[in-house]
Amino acid sequence: METRGQCIAVVSGKGGTGKTSFTAGVGSALALGGKRVLCLDCDVGLRNLDLALGLTDRALMDFSDVAQGRCSLESAVVEHPKIPGLFLLTAPVRSRGRPVSERQMADLLQEIRRRYDYCLLDAPAGLGGGFLLATCAADRAVVVTTADASSLRDAQHTVMELNRFSSGSLHLVVNRVRKKMLRSMHATIDDAIDKAGLPLIGVVPEDDALPLCLNQGVPLLLAGAQPAASAYRNIATRIQGGKAPLLRIK
Ligand SMILES: Nc1ncnc2c1ncn2[C@@H]1O[C@H](COP(=O)(O)OP(=O)(O)O)[C@@H](O)[C@H]1O
Ligand SMILES: [Mg+2]
Repeated sequence: METRGQCIAVVSGKGGTGKTSFTAGVGSALALGGKRVLCLDCDVGLRNLDLALGLTDRALMDFSDVAQGRCSLESAVVEHPKIPGLFLLTAPVRSRGRPVSERQMADLLQEIRRRYDYCLLDAPAGLGGGFLLATCAADRAVVVTTADASSLRDAQHTVMELNRFSSGSLHLVVNRVRKKMLRSMHATIDDAIDKAGLPLIGVVPEDDALPLCLNQGVPLLLAGAQPAASAYRNIATRIQGGKAPLLRIK
């Protein structure tokens, strides 16, 4: 395969801004659109991307096993039973032995680019080792924030750590936007863009379907016409260079 896939790191300063939900939602949308997609959980210890995808307890081997040569990429990834083309490579439950080095991560992503159209790297909160692993060799990064002041400040700090990315490869997502905020929405979103200093790639509404689907182990994108699902679909379109409306909250 000669095609070269793109690796996109999904990051935030604060925890709980919606990185894992974003990775699962946009990953599903890209796969449902016919792409080969790998969702890579970089959150060592807290791994929960499997839950967000409805793929619990299927993966035996994790990305450290592949990166450090203990098994092949094919043997470690798990394909989603309901979304063909969507794959998960999980994180170690705890770091055993030597942590994966940036060099090993870079080599892993090179192999992933040869086999997948897109790889979304779900980073842990904060700017520690997992953040560095997720971002060290990615081609693009998406900073996920909510519209509140503390999350925006963290997004700002995060952006400062992303200076290895060219400006065209960094984007902002504002998550958990509520209907009530809509009136002041433009101000809020403009503020978010100004504060983070990044162009916006999407706005995701607050949607009760997210926790519901999570609890039921159902992928959000297969649960019908939910507002967050259509936001993720639009973002998937934009990631592929297409145009989609920024926001429609009923
Ligand atoms: N748009 C949204 N609407 C409603 N709940 C959301 C939304 N985005 C995230 N959540 C909820 O917030 C919690 C944290 O989200 P998660 O994606 O795990 O964040 P992170 O990976 O950044 O820590 C989860 O319970 C998730 O269901
Ligand atoms: Mg997470």
